[in-house]
Amino acid sequence: MLEIDSLDVYHGQLHVLWDLSLTVGNGECVTVLGPNGAGKTTLVETVMGLNRPTRGSIRFDGQELTGLRPNEVVSRGIAIVPEKRELFPRMTVAENLALGAYTRGVGDNARIYDLFPILAERRDQLAGTMSGGEQQMLAIARALAARPQLLILDEPSLGLSPLFVSTVLESIAALNAEGLTILLLEQNVRSALEVSDRAYVLENGRIALEGPSKALLDDPKVQASYLGV
Ligand SMILES: Nc1ncnc2c1ncn2[C@@H]1O[C@H](COP(=O)(O)OP(=O)(O)OP(=O)(O)O)[C@@H](O)[C@H]1O
Ligand SMILES: [Mg+2]
Repeated sequence: MLEIDSLDVYHGQLHVLWDLSLTVGNGECVTVLGPNGAGKTTLVETVMGLNRPTRGSIRFDGQELTGLRPNEVVSRGIAIVPEKRELFPRMTVAENLALGAYTRGVGDNARIYDLFPILAERRDQLAGTMSGGEQQMLAIARALAARPQLLILDEPSLGLSPLFVSTVLESIAALNAEGLTILLLEQNVRSALEVSDRAYVLENGRIALEGPSKALLDDPKVQASYLGV
């Protein structure tokens, strides 16, 4: 579904992503693991058309995405849950969901409220007054309101308590089990490997390691470097 090939991306003079290639197949959950500054957010922004690569291609369902504007990328069927959530804090839960559905026209949110019952209870609450975990659920729900084929999540577990981390990762697994294709960028290595089919390890903007998530969880080198075993 998503094919990224030989991507080079700069921020000004700084070469951030180096010859980066990765794929996400239809129905897969793929994770990109990387520490602070590895280039995860830069990768998300490049897929969405917020950064222009100097080299390489990004194809979605066989069609080139590079050069498209972010709204055009969303219309093609990709939605993101951004790193800092970027909710509209003075708008209600329901209004945030309506904005998520902007490219598709307001639809039925029953499935979304089913997945996150707390959002149904709080549909008239201002987004900015919700807890961090609730806001993360709303950010995921808002992306789902665009009814994407591919959902990209940039560090959804960041800053959440262990309970909310499990809730958020379980909801990602449930969405993938229903057939939604997912690209998950994380630092929470163990949780991300547990919910994903395949993984890439990003180090200083380069893919250092890739393979089935199960194999990486069992790999002594990954355990020593990333899992503190
Ligand atoms: N707008 C920008 N201008 C200049 N440099 C940038 C910009 N955005 C990111 N960078 C640099 O690019 C590198 C990659 O940053 P990026 O935010 O993509 O990493 P990340 O993996 O998302 O990190 P984190 O886990 O902290 O979110 C860093 O060295 C960062 O300082
Ligand atoms: Mg980031």
